[in-house]
Amino acid sequence: MKKNKLYEGKAKILYKGSEPGTLIQHFKDNATANNNEKMEIFEGKGVINNRISEQLFTLLSSIDIPHHFIKRLNMREQLIHEVEIIPLEVVIRNIAAGSLTKRLGIKSGEKLSRTLIEYYFKDDILKDPLVSEDHILTFGWANQNELDEISTLALRINDFLVGYFSALKIELIDFKIEFGRMYKNEEMYIVLADEISPDSCRLWDSETKRKLDKDVFRENSGYLLDGYNEVAKRMGLLIENKASKNSKPTLVKG
Ligand SMILES: Nc1ncnc2c1ncn2[C@@H]1O[C@H](COP(=O)(O)OP(=O)(O)O)[C@@H](O)[C@H]1O
Ligand SMILES: [Mg+2]
Repeated sequence: MKKNKLYEGKAKILYKGSEPGTLIQHFKDNATANNNEKMEIFEGKGVINNRISEQLFTLLSSIDIPHHFIKRLNMREQLIHEVEIIPLEVVIRNIAAGSLTKRLGIKSGEKLSRTLIEYYFKDDILKDPLVSEDHILTFGWANQNELDEISTLALRINDFLVGYFSALKIELIDFKIEFGRMYKNEEMYIVLADEISPDSCRLWDSETKRKLDKDVFRENSGYLLDGYNEVAKRMGLLIENKASKNSKPTLVKG
């Protein structure tokens, strides 16, 4: 059966789902940086991100974070609830890195005195500019109640993920999430959408500070998937293939 493609983005494709109100989220192997200036294909990235995101969303259910994930369908695809995406990239920062260090001259790796939430307007043409809460309210991208809910959820998600990754000897430096509106029984809920993966998080090895995320591609500092595989391995999603030194790690069946 030919799938009904609704949207193709930089890293994923959305297809119509089997039931009304559902979508299929397909993870591609494309890596992009600098707002599409740089693009490369890393064979297997989509497979790893699909599994990592599935695992993290499933774990977030255990602390009652509402989200769009329903189930994984195959190696690259997951069934999700269709939501009305709020056009904001919500960035949660624990340690200074990336644009924060460039914009404000703060040293990379410096622990922030408190968790910092930033909002970027999701618009590729405008290059996702940083916006204030006042911009969001003025232009109606979200209302005050929605913003309160988003920041509360973002901090709870952060608390959980910091603890989860620290047990894996990984520091969660910062990450980007998206939220959407879901309607059920005439009520509107704000739910976590999109993905959480090494494409959207900064993850450093706690001891060596080695980067295990997309910065490796942005900075051209190694083979991107080595870090992604390391994260998947520590999350229990990979079995080491011991038969041959050259063989690739295999995803655990599940
Ligand atoms: N549950 C959902 N319902 C509708 N749209 C979603 C949902 N989850 C994520 N999206 C949107 O699907 C797209 C995912 O593809 P991606 O390659 O990340 O696109 P982009 O290049 O726009 O970031 C994003 O635009 C994201 O906002
Ligand atoms: Mg995206």
